[in-house]
Amino acid sequence: MAAQIEVNASPPSNETGYRSFKLGEFEFTRDEYFARVSWPANGKKMTHVISADSFLRMMMRDVAWGFFYGQVNFDAVFGTTNLYGQVEVYAGRTNPGYRDQGLDYSEIFDTPQIMATFKAILDDWTNEGFDPFAAPAETGRAWLGKKNGHNRAAIERQRAVCERMPGLPGDAPLRSDENGYPINRAFLDVSQDEPEVHAEPGFEDEVSAFSLFKYLSRSDVTWNPSVSSVCKASLCCPTTEEYILPIKHGNDRVEWFIQLTDEIEWEVEDKETGKPRAKVIMKAGDVASMPADIRHQGFSKKRAMLLVWENATVGLPDRYTSGELKPYPIDF
Ligand code: PHB
Ligand code: FE
Repeated sequence: MAAQIEVNASPPSNETGYRSFKLGEFEFTRDEYFARVSWPANGKKMTHVISADSFLRMMMRDVAWGFFYGQVNFDAVFGTTNLYGQVEVYAGRTNPGYRDQGLDYSEIFDTPQIMATFKAILDDWTNEGFDPFAAPAETGRAWLGKKNGHNRAAIERQRAVCERMPGLPGDAPLRSDENGYPINRAFLDVSQDEPEVHAEPGFEDEVSAFSLFKYLSRSDVTWNPSVSSVCKASLCCPTTEEYILPIKHGNDRVEWFIQLTDEIEWEVEDKETGKPRAKVIMKAGDVASMPADIRHQGFSKKRAMLLVWENATVGLPDRYTSGELKPYPIDF
């Protein structure tokens, strides 16, 4: 039997209705407008404040992605690093303004412990009507004053991970009006034609094709890559992007972006210091490689389709930190 994981939560506050949470020395509280994270440094209690809507969008990604590859910076101060089995939670560690004054702090937790705590925070702090995965224009507000209900249907939504390939028996059905995936308002001009498949008799369950554009035109979430094909360690993770990638992702491997439609602006910074490194404007058809030593955040003024190509080879982070692999993919 799986061990029950205890989450350190206070009773709901009499003033706001929200619970507070502790994870090691970190404390998390929410009020009507803000989330606050506190940690000990230099014998003091440091507190960092983040707008509640942003915080919930960040928390949603960290939970749904299982702490992702490398760093998930909520902003320039607070974040997590995936150690695969454990997770380091830090405040100020990737920000020289804090680090140089000894005001940073980090602590490592077993993944099930932090996962249970982050899920409990997300559950308690998400009010009815707010969907942290949705574009701001497609959801209610995170701020409804005091605690007001839940939105478990949104936050417990399972990320689509293919077992085979969309459309093949044994995988999730292709998205359609009938199964609750209408075409998104931004993609009404995307062709809905599916390719014709002529399989040899006996291979009907094994040969398939589908229109990825149609599939993505019906995505109801933003900034949430889903694994849509796996070939050994090569993961194709297409996604639909609108507004701001809620977190700044610090890569622990090289990843590639293929801009399928529209345009995304990327701010690229040094992974350890946040020093600006590049501004990348990707238009439909552009391909970019994001190095292993950066953090980045995307801005998409109109919903766009992006293919994120990840390398899931085991042991890559150590090969980059040891210098065996260069942080970029090619020497020109
Ligand atoms: C990334 O950090 O590389 C990333 C994350 C989520 C997305 C797109 C890119 O939707
Ligand atoms: Fe990334």
